[in-house]
Amino acid sequence: MIDKKVKMHYRWTVARRLIHWTTFICIAVLTFTGFYIAHPFWFIYSPGTREAYNTFAMADIRFIHFIFAFIFISAIVLRLYYAFFSRYDADWKSLLFEWFNIKEWKIVLANYLTFKPYGVPIKSKYNPLQSLFYFLFIIACILQIISGLVMFTMGQNSIRGMSFMQKALYWFVSMMGGYAHVYDLHRFLTWFFIVFFIGHVYMILAHDIGDKKGTVSSMISRYEAEEK
Ligand code: HEM
Repeated sequence: MIDKKVKMHYRWTVARRLIHWTTFICIAVLTFTGFYIAHPFWFIYSPGTREAYNTFAMADIRFIHFIFAFIFISAIVLRLYYAFFSRYDADWKSLLFEWFNIKEWKIVLANYLTFKPYGVPIKSKYNPLQSLFYFLFIIACILQIISGLVMFTMGQNSIRGMSFMQKALYWFVSMMGGYAHVYDLHRFLTWFFIVFFIGHVYMILAHDIGDKKGTVSSMISRYEAEEK
């Protein structure tokens, strides 16, 4: 039965939904292929015969990692563009400042821990915990992209000198204290993305159980319920 007091609110534009699901697919593929690159004993994959010339599992998996890495980079660049310049969806203020909203933290944590409705309207685009979570996510994406690009172009250094990308990102290698730590960061952030995913799903479910706005389905349906 339809509750007449509820009206549907247009929450996510096509672009935002596309960016969201593209990012999700990329992170899933990059995590899987990344773990394979780190620990190739996971599975043996050999198309055709098992002759050495035909067994390019690592090369193939690395290739997939790089294809999705560049799709991921494009999605994050677009996401940042949207955060600042979208006419409908610019949310940079909410991402940068909302998590300082000390007053709302208590209400929000109570909702996440007890699944009860907020009880008060949240005026900003994101509540403080979402805002902090998404802010950290974007920082992690930027660091993952920089560390990935450093590793990706490492092989281009030669006796003729460093490649353009290596020169451009050398400040990052120095800051990290060497290439080995750039690898460590890339691996550490992979775990951040796994923890983020679990937390993100938990938060959306808790939000939906508490406020019953259809948040889970809104990233596909584009609508979220709001009281009239
Ligand atoms: C969410 C995004 C990403 C995840 C979860 C991820 C995960 C991983 C993991 C776990 C590894 C293995 C590290 C190791 O050797 O222990 C790896 C390697 C690598 N990743 Fe990523 N990665 C991501 C994005 C990127 C991006 C954007 C690039 C940019 C080109 C990139 C380039 C590389 C390179 C070059 C390697 C090393 C390959 C090798 O040593 O053969 N990654 N990645």
